[in-house]
Amino acid sequence: MTGLTNTNRHYGAVAILLHWFMAALLIGLTVLGVYMSALPDVGFDKEKITLIVYHKECGILALGLAMVRLAWRVGNVLPALVRELPDWQKVVARFVHLCFYALMFALPVSGWLMSSAASIPVYVFGIQLPDLIPHNEYRFQLLIEVHKWLGYALIGFILLHAGAALQHHFISRDNTLRKILPGSHL
Ligand code: HEM
Repeated sequence: MTGLTNTNRHYGAVAILLHWFMAALLIGLTVLGVYMSALPDVGFDKEKITLIVYHKECGILALGLAMVRLAWRVGNVLPALVRELPDWQKVVARFVHLCFYALMFALPVSGWLMSSAASIPVYVFGIQLPDLIPHNEYRFQLLIEVHKWLGYALIGFILLHAGAALQHHFISRDNTLRKILPGSHL
């Protein structure tokens, strides 16, 4: 049985749940973001506006979960990377993990800043959140670009990270992926 907290060899149940739930949420938000942005911008498009509202609400939920995840990460031991890994791969793996944490905060915060600059309110569970910055059209356009490129960076890192995990599991046949799967005994 996987315990709640991490050990030197395995992620605990809380870290595993946060990892896979957030992976699904962030991939979903990215797909939704790309899809809704591509919808034409003509007149009042009910579908586009509804999807943007969902995207914003789930994005703020992801920000809350990123805080919980960071707190859990700081307060837990970190399972070691497989010993046979060359040093450069260990550095790249930890760097990608660090970039994920940065993106988990930068993406929702840039989205919130963007909405604030456009004076379009952000709601979560029906509660309106305060604007982070005053209305400014130039900053709004700039933040659209920032948010978009952060999203593209997330897609790149996911492909790299998932590709590496699958390579470890199916080609190197080591414990990298099993470490973050529920119920595996190491
Ligand atoms: C949005 C998608 C994802 C994000 C943001 C993400 C983020 C992370 C982060 C930050 C860690 C380090 C553990 C920690 O510090 O909490 C990690 C570990 C890991 N992830 Fe992901 N992940 C994602 C998707 C995936 C997918 C799709 C796979 C597999 C196909 C995967 C496989 C792994 C593995 C195997 C580890 C353990 C690495 C080790 O410690 O040796 N992840 N992930």
